[in-house]
Amino acid sequence: MALETPAPPRRSAPGSKNTAGLDLEELRQLWLKPLWLVLSEAFSPEPRTDIVPHIWKWSDVRPRILEAGRRISAEEAERRVLMYLNPGLNGDPGATQTLFAGIQLIMPGEIAPTHRHVPSALRVVVEGNGAYTTVSGEKTLMRPGDFVTTPNWAWHDHGNETDEPMMWLDGLDMPFVLALNAMFYEDLVQGKGSEIQPVVRELDDSQLRYNRGFRPHNDRFTGNYSPVLNYRFDDVRETLFQMDRAGDATSDEEGVMLDYINPLTGGPTLPTIDSHAQLIRSGEHTRAVRDTASRIYHVLDGRGASIIGGRRMEWEKGDTFCAPTWSWREHTVESSASPAILFSFDDAPIQKPFALYRRQVLLEGNGRQSSLS
Ligand SMILES: [Fe+2]
Repeated sequence: MALETPAPPRRSAPGSKNTAGLDLEELRQLWLKPLWLVLSEAFSPEPRTDIVPHIWKWSDVRPRILEAGRRISAEEAERRVLMYLNPGLNGDPGATQTLFAGIQLIMPGEIAPTHRHVPSALRVVVEGNGAYTTVSGEKTLMRPGDFVTTPNWAWHDHGNETDEPMMWLDGLDMPFVLALNAMFYEDLVQGKGSEIQPVVRELDDSQLRYNRGFRPHNDRFTGNYSPVLNYRFDDVRETLFQMDRAGDATSDEEGVMLDYINPLTGGPTLPTIDSHAQLIRSGEHTRAVRDTASRIYHVLDGRGASIIGGRRMEWEKGDTFCAPTWSWREHTVESSASPAILFSFDDAPIQKPFALYRRQVLLEGNGRQSSLS
């Protein structure tokens, strides 16, 4: 049976546009269309996006992922993850147009079998203590707030040998990879069998080698990602408070903020995703900042509020929220509250090599979004 060519989509041109008497229906049948009818849509003066600011409350997510843990085994689900969907994406996976976020649960005694994929991934532990992730033969035991990387095409598996559920936020560049139609995925073992990769390096080997201001002499590491597997939250917190005591200069923009880096380059830990932690101090209200990166925040500690693109979102520990491209964002913590720590990851590394990245700080007035003053 001959395959029929699908009919081109019918989209009526805006009435005010000049069709120049051309037969649009005939052009449509030929898969042609005048650019001038859509020029201002495509070449907008500033970035446009379907992504909307949104918050996923931990108080909503936690009972539902635990319910999923009762209803489906990790083996049946393969990956027991609840995806965080952006309401602007009509149900497609993605918390933004480039970044995926989801909450993963591993119950005591369970494993997530070894696999690899080209999307780069990161984990931030929300609850649980001591479950493991193994990446490329190195194993790490994860504690709350820890940041664990999984590079492009690296074999990885997870397991929980503790007696409590383990939940972490997954962050991936999966929507970006899907948009490029560049996905590859592979299981280590087809069907049933040994689904855990052999551990060939000592526990936290990469932290000792690379995260202390040293690197091995004659190092043979050639990856375009950080060789460090786990960035400990205790270290992040200690550094943020030290920066605060020292009166760090970034505090008038986005609070006291640090970047997770590849210690070999000073750049981001993953080639497509940059990650940060920031301290929002008691009584602080950060200046409004926007950039062309889309961004996902996760609350590591404390409570406060963020105003993203004019929308105010109250948050507390465990919540996750997103900031669309080019939307003003500011963060605040009440004077009576404890300092808060926000983790965030963004797609800026995808934009920077192509001169697509721009950033702006609101300097007028009090540096806040005017609709809220
Ligand atoms: Fe994975």
